[in-house]
Amino acid sequence: MNLLILGRGKTGSLVAEVARQRRHHVRVFGGGENKDSCALTAECLRDVDVVIDFTTPAAILANIAACLRERKQMVVGTTGWHGDLLAVRHRVEEAGTGFLCGANFSIGINLFLEAVRASAEAHNHGYHGQIFERHHQHKKDAPSGTALVMQNILKEKSGAELEITSFREGDVVGMHELVFDSPNDRIYLCHDAKSRRGFAEGAVLGTEWLGTRKGFFEFKDVWREL
Ligand SMILES: NC(=O)c1ccc[n+]([C@@H]2O[C@H](COP(=O)([O-])OP(=O)(O)OC[C@H]3O[C@@H](n4cnc5c(N)ncnc54)[C@H](OP(=O)(O)O)[C@@H]3O)[C@@H](O)[C@H]2O)c1
Repeated sequence: MNLLILGRGKTGSLVAEVARQRRHHVRVFGGGENKDSCALTAECLRDVDVVIDFTTPAAILANIAACLRERKQMVVGTTGWHGDLLAVRHRVEEAGTGFLCGANFSIGINLFLEAVRASAEAHNHGYHGQIFERHHQHKKDAPSGTALVMQNILKEKSGAELEITSFREGDVVGMHELVFDSPNDRIYLCHDAKSRRGFAEGAVLGTEWLGTRKGFFEFKDVWREL
């Protein structure tokens, strides 16, 4: 496929690397080349099959608008625009294009969240649960989005709101733990990311899955099909 990747940051560059290894034709625009989406013209997008966005919350909505104007397929990994999700979904459906988004494109994390969902049962059998998350010291938000998703899943399934403890230390890529404790035993579930490559591979596999499909899709609903 002809892919246009928006964002030359930590994740966008890895997505480009994985996409090239999988024999796609890749072009990348960073913030300098695409200020206010100025590079996303009809001419530039003509031969592009899918646009992949790993930019910033400030840039994403203008990038989406420009791609929808040209009826381009899009995969969005950028976070921080959840409040606009319904409006974007509506615009994608109006434009009749294909759109895949997700706050976490790692297949490992999605598998882990399934295990978290299944473990919620522990709450009904006298276990006390706690969530721990560890990330590198440069991560600005706390708790992490993934820890909040874990908390939500457990609340939905068992009604309990588990406490989240966040650690910011060294160069930890991202570790999430769920511990259930009872007088008799302790259950540990842990996901420990070794690199950002899991996100990049998920984004490229998701792009291949999207292909020419039309509609609005979220990664959490389609990762099993990859
Ligand atoms: N869904 C997932 O699995 C997943 C995984 C990891 C990260 N993310 C999300 O993906 C986004 C990027 O993460 P990151 O870690 O790669 O951040 P990053 O290293 O800060 O990279 C962001 C890049 O976006 C570029 N940018 C800003 N405006 C742009 C525009 N209009 N067009 C093209 N590029 C533009 C910036 O370039 P300049 O510096 O030149 O402005 C910067 O290089 C974040 O929202 C993050 O939360 C999602």
